[in-house]
Amino acid sequence: MSGGVGSRRRTAILISGRGSNMAALLAAAADPGYPAEIALVLSNRADAAGLGRAAAAGIPTAVVESRPFGRDRAGFEAAMEAELARHGVELIALAGFMRVLTEGFTTRWAGRMLNIHPSLLPAFPGLDTHARALAAGVKLHGCTVHLVTPGVDEGPILAQAAVPILPGDDEASLGARVLAEEHRLYPAALAWVAAGRVALEGNLARLDTPPGPSAERLSNPG
Ligand code: GRF
Repeated sequence: MSGGVGSRRRTAILISGRGSNMAALLAAAADPGYPAEIALVLSNRADAAGLGRAAAAGIPTAVVESRPFGRDRAGFEAAMEAELARHGVELIALAGFMRVLTEGFTTRWAGRMLNIHPSLLPAFPGLDTHARALAAGVKLHGCTVHLVTPGVDEGPILAQAAVPILPGDDEASLGARVLAEEHRLYPAALAWVAAGRVALEGNLARLDTPPGPSAERLSNPG
């Protein structure tokens, strides 16, 4: 794997809650050969359970409470930017971060910010994905890691994993099956971006393809 010690991309994980995807990323990045190092876990809620897990793993944590900012999303994001800059962050991995980001923020971090979503996008963007998949009667469900663009859950798809919907499934059983795949998929997708293995052609993300004239490499760890 390219991007050894000394050239690892400094990555912030943004959370709002339990942080099981965060834990999967921390576990992957504990390997010094992994091309991203987790420089910061940032939460918009002081009571996010994931903060304790990150601190226990020796990872720097920060809280920027979103609530006091009310509708001032740009003010909230400026406070987050200050923390990101303070920790020299180059990449962002959203992991259960429950705030919609402004166009300004997503544009500043274009190609450098990932999200994991619990459905096979473009099916079921937004909330309550497992209940909606069950209600729709689809037979396959899953998760998607994508780059973040201003449109919520719309950015270029980096990776997906599918699971079957089985007879008798409810939201909890289906959610658990998807979550196990999330924990496998997200570390792989972050590694691809951090190692500079992803090229963008418009809204398409391509892995390990030589860049064509219009392709733009997302990261070049050298
Ligand atoms: C996950 O299902 C993720 O796909 C979604 O929010 C949930 C976060 O769970 N974006 P966790 O905090 O990582 O356990």
